[in-house]
Amino acid sequence: MEKDKQRACVLKKRTGMFQQEVRVKSALICQKLLNFLEEKQARRVMLYYAIKNEVDLKPLAIDLLTSGYKISLPVTKNEEIIPVSIDHYDHCCKKGYKGVYEPYLLKGRIIHKDEIDAVVVPGVVFNQRGYRIGYGKGFYDHFLKSLKAIKLGAAYSWQIINFKEKEYDVPVDVVFTENSVLRREK
Ligand SMILES: Nc1ncnc2c1ncn2[C@@H]1O[C@H](COP(=O)(O)OP(=O)(O)O)[C@@H](O)[C@H]1O
Ligand SMILES: [Mg+2]
Repeated sequence: MEKDKQRACVLKKRTGMFQQEVRVKSALICQKLLNFLEEKQARRVMLYYAIKNEVDLKPLAIDLLTSGYKISLPVTKNEEIIPVSIDHYDHCCKKGYKGVYEPYLLKGRIIHKDEIDAVVVPGVVFNQRGYRIGYGKGFYDHFLKSLKAIKLGAAYSWQIINFKEKEYDVPVDVVFTENSVLRREK
């Protein structure tokens, strides 16, 4: 229940954000992510398409695409996350599951899990150990379970809150906020 309460509380706060805050903080987080991905030479990167004032990765997506990185976005089908490659950020997508923009699910564009160097996941809450609270369906837990890629979280600093993770929750390795880079405490 604790997770449900924290999820609801943070979602409420995020819904009330000014667009200026979303833009400015997202840009700072994108810059940190860009530096990290360049340093790690992670060229095949799965991002997400922001909804409901999530940290907006659009500036990062455009920078990476311009530099020749291979970018994919999640498509949710049958309760499963499928990475699908995109060539352009604008016009890449249509409304899909729960109104989230996603690429067209074309067979030739599906990315195998082993072809991803790094994935950036959205979250409602992250704790200091890199565990996340999502929208409550556990889709990313299933997806991340068998993924070898570097796992990264993007969140505003006030989304870092202590909570007790469950045994099936899968942590990310690093969480990026507008003013910090939190490496997972092992
Ligand atoms: N690896 C898993 N194996 C089995 N069930 C899982 C797994 N991951 C998540 N679930 C199920 O999904 C539900 C939602 O997971 P939860 O972690 O609460 O959501 P979220 O990560 O989206 O916040 C859980 O109640 C759990 O039953
Ligand atoms: Mg979970």
